[in-house]
Amino acid sequence: MAPSSNNLSRVVAHRGASADAPENTLSALNLAIEYGANCVEVDAMISKDGVAFLHHDDGLERCTNGRGYVCAASASELDALDASGKHTQFAGEPLPRLSAALDLLIEKKTGLNLEIKPTPGLEQATAAAVVAELEATWPSELPLIISSFSKDALEVAQALLPNAQRALITCAVPPDWENTLKALECTNFHMAAELLNETDAKAIKAAGYGLYCYTVNEVSQAHRLLGMGVDGVFTDKPKLLLNEISAT
Ligand code: G3P
Ligand code: MG
Repeated sequence: MAPSSNNLSRVVAHRGASADAPENTLSALNLAIEYGANCVEVDAMISKDGVAFLHHDDGLERCTNGRGYVCAASASELDALDASGKHTQFAGEPLPRLSAALDLLIEKKTGLNLEIKPTPGLEQATAAAVVAELEATWPSELPLIISSFSKDALEVAQALLPNAQRALITCAVPPDWENTLKALECTNFHMAAELLNETDAKAIKAAGYGLYCYTVNEVSQAHRLLGMGVDGVFTDKPKLLLNEISAT
């Protein structure tokens, strides 16, 4: 089946406004919205007791004052952490549950790229937890794309929430990209900006897919990618890029 459309803005705030606020926190989402972003990307994984939280790394050390795997801590233990990371002026910033992030984005009518970021081995459980929350709360009129590097996670989303748009994420373009996108019924392909060439960009667009690149923090690189036919970019600096590029 041919993909119907992609669903994101040209400038997507990557982990929120993550250059200026702690990544994947409510403050980073609020700041991105304040800057004018109408679409954000976040990463989600699960606690030991299966509750979805926003977090990028398997381990807690880089972004919080906790230690060890996210998936080894209970939700109440994760609730007690400080997620301000290197942004010391945000001391006391909580590690947000996915439910709190969804509430905020729905209230602010902001589009979402929810990246399922499972710790290896927890692909199905992570995807099922994330999809259940989306199914319970996300309004159909707000833009939503579920993405993942994990094909297993995307298969769960495809089975449980077939009407939500999906994106496969990779670093480089794999040789079997088209078959994989077809099998997972994805509308979008998301990949590393520096690994995209003009030939692949043309082929992916000619096949009808939304094409988005991460992580683009320089205006000149954004212009170059958009000139190649890329639909939009994930950026830690939405303020900078929104000043130079319209969101749609
Ligand atoms: O979803 C795009 C991008 O966020 C994928 O890479 O590692 O920043 O989650 P990463
Ligand atoms: Mg991500």
